[in-house]
Amino acid sequence: MTDTISSINPATGDSIWEAPVGDADAEVGVARGGWAQWAAQSHSFRIETMRRFANIVRGKLDEFADLISRETGKPLWEARTEVEAVVNKVDISAEAYFERTPSRNKQGELREQNALRHKPHGVLAVLGPFNFPAHLPNGHIVPALIAGNAVVFKPSEKTPATGEFLVNCYLEAGVPENVIRLLVGGPEEGKALAAHEGIDGLLFTGSARAGLALHKQFGKRPDKILALELGGNNPLVVWDSPDADAAAAIIVQSAYMTAGQRCTAARRLIVKDGEHQPLIDAIRKIIDRIIVGPPDADPAPFMGCLIDNRSAEAVTDGFLDLMMKGGSPIAHLRRIDDDKPFLTPGLIDVTAIEKRDDEEIFGPLLQVIRVPDFASAMQEANNTRFGLSASLLSGSPDLYNRFWAQSRAGIVNWNKPTNGASSAAPFGGIGMSGNHRPSAYYAADYCAYPVASAEAPSARAAIKIGLKDPEMERTASDES
Ligand code: NAD
Ligand code: SIN
Repeated sequence: MTDTISSINPATGDSIWEAPVGDADAEVGVARGGWAQWAAQSHSFRIETMRRFANIVRGKLDEFADLISRETGKPLWEARTEVEAVVNKVDISAEAYFERTPSRNKQGELREQNALRHKPHGVLAVLGPFNFPAHLPNGHIVPALIAGNAVVFKPSEKTPATGEFLVNCYLEAGVPENVIRLLVGGPEEGKALAAHEGIDGLLFTGSARAGLALHKQFGKRPDKILALELGGNNPLVVWDSPDADAAAAIIVQSAYMTAGQRCTAARRLIVKDGEHQPLIDAIRKIIDRIIVGPPDADPAPFMGCLIDNRSAEAVTDGFLDLMMKGGSPIAHLRRIDDDKPFLTPGLIDVTAIEKRDDEEIFGPLLQVIRVPDFASAMQEANNTRFGLSASLLSGSPDLYNRFWAQSRAGIVNWNKPTNGASSAAPFGGIGMSGNHRPSAYYAADYCAYPVASAEAPSARAAIKIGLKDPEMERTASDES
């Protein structure tokens, strides 16, 4: 009997989609048959195809957003912004392709041409996460296709219907069936795809746990490209910020948007001890007004639910664990309904916990850490093995200069949220947040490799040094 994957609407518990688990071997085989022909097409042909894809997605915006919100539990308004990001990715990727992987030709001293061009890798595997099930895999797939690769895409087992919808849009736009392949499955199929000899690389967005395993596996394979976009334990520092209400709004947006299920979500709020109370009160005031509810509720919720009950339990356990270790709750993180993964936003002061775990708790939970001075704030901000995003809320440009210089993260913001990263900039982190292959604007870099060529229309060469003089050779042999 074939195994099936079914997708559950986390807000209702209803099954919304079901399909048999796919076969990595078969999908890679098809893509290997297709990529060379796709790579041989002109760039403008591939970019035009992707522009058609953008138009198709734009035309299906409502339908697509509805599916994403039903499959992830995120509010409908937020799912719409995700679909808009999918559309916008095409123009950004076309621009990035020419800027990051340009062709150029320079004349050399002997009138030869020194050309720089880029070639696609071949077949790239894309493994997607559940939290942005369309936007994030699309952020790998569009640049990969523009560069001339074929793609085998395995969406998260929690959001396969969105993955299928996305792939159908590429196909409708004219991407050949043997160039974009959908692999339905879970971690086992992900492992089979990642280990397949027929892929030339893996573009992964997901947890540090899976990313680390993949990094070990690819450590023996310098012949394959590996791009890892992983998690974070992101700090948000507030120091001499004159407007507590504005700071609180940015903090709430950073920590609780998408119910905290963003890799760039603020997890640790670092504040000046003794001056923190007005800020905490302002955050508390907003938390008390946050609407948590089903995606299509009216009035619209700020937060939907988590992806499933298991995740909600893990985040609730994380909150209880912090309490047991000495944390003081400011706003209790609670399950609203025992059967569904709706959580209220949690805020907890963990200053008293001596040894804090450096884990990404993937939900609406923000930990407050009070420190005496800015140097301690910086030390605390960098006190993590991750390094994805960091933000400073402060009225002082000098403090921001220090913050920027000393922060160890791939995204460093000032008076802006830790999340909401721009597709028009590189998106990636250091430490356990990735392997120095940022995505978004820099995705072009890992979708093609540079080829340097010295080129002349005919072979014209002479060796002018280090050879014996033929005249002298002849005389020497005549004399002997
Ligand atoms: P996950 O690691 O559980 O799964 C991601 C994908 O990998 C899924 O398709 C899954 O089936 C597959 N997978 C899981 N284990 C695997 C393994 N050992 N080998 C091969 N494939 C495997 O991640 P998730 O729970 O879907 O997503 C949430 C995580 O993703 C969070 O940690 C979040 O921070 C991170 N994330 C990072 C970014 C970024 O760009 N840096 C963006 C979004 C999410
Ligand atoms: C994410 O990719 O998880 C979030 C992106 C962002 O909001 O910065």
